[in-house]
Amino acid sequence: MTKPLLSVSNLVAGYGDIQILWGMDLEVGEGEAVCLVGSNGAGKSTLLRTLSGLLRARSGRVEFRGEDITNLPPKQILSRGIVHVPEGRRLFGPMNVVDNLLTGAYLRSDKAQIKRDLDHMLTLFPILAERRHQATVTLSGGEQQMCAIARGIMSAPKLLMIDELSLGLAPKVVDSLGAALRQIMHDGLSLLLVEQDVATAFELTSRGVVVDSGKVRISGPTADLAVNPMVQQAYMGLA
Ligand SMILES: Nc1ncnc2c1ncn2[C@@H]1O[C@H](COP(=O)(O)OP(=O)(O)O)[C@@H](O)[C@H]1O
Ligand SMILES: [Mg+2]
Repeated sequence: MTKPLLSVSNLVAGYGDIQILWGMDLEVGEGEAVCLVGSNGAGKSTLLRTLSGLLRARSGRVEFRGEDITNLPPKQILSRGIVHVPEGRRLFGPMNVVDNLLTGAYLRSDKAQIKRDLDHMLTLFPILAERRHQATVTLSGGEQQMCAIARGIMSAPKLLMIDELSLGLAPKVVDSLGAALRQIMHDGLSLLLVEQDVATAFELTSRGVVVDSGKVRISGPTADLAVNPMVQQAYMGLA
């Protein structure tokens, strides 16, 4: 792995009396794409929420670029370069595409660079340029996902965390999202991808972490995980 950008050790979190994460460990290297896979309810979204400061860690440590960021407020985590594209996208439906994208940059003050980044996103996702003045509630699911990802990138992050990239989207749409993500990675961003479709997750990332009941069950290069009989049987629907 390259130099660690994100380093999570022994992370414990939950809701009220219910503990969900039981000592999670995870690393994402600089420029690396890592996927988190696992059954429904394994704790993947809970992990992303804890990393972005929406949920408090009860113990354990999160380091980002060598700094302890455990339990910093969400805004501060965002300003350090971690952005979370939540499941279900959570766009501001009545607002148009461009205004939604600009909300992603609300902590930034570099106006000229924001404008350049906006243009870059509209080039990367031409369909968003076409629909730039449309309310996002009128977009298709795939277009909304593009908008949510582009809005995330408008915060100028170093680490992009996406929760459920492909859920509910047609394979063709997922392909074009994948191509855009590759381009974004090429620009130097790191990716932590939560993805229920394990084959898609393994295609888009070079290292994978299989989460089971709030713990890491197995992790390694996705090329190895993809041919691991346990992973194939338990998570890929292959005999
Ligand atoms: N707000 C919440 N309050 C209580 N339990 C929750 C809440 N959100 C999720 N959970 C529970 O936490 C567990 C892990 O959920 P989640 O992290 O969403 O899993 P995954 O994303 O891997 O499907 C599940 O049992 C889920 O029911
Ligand atoms: Mg989830």
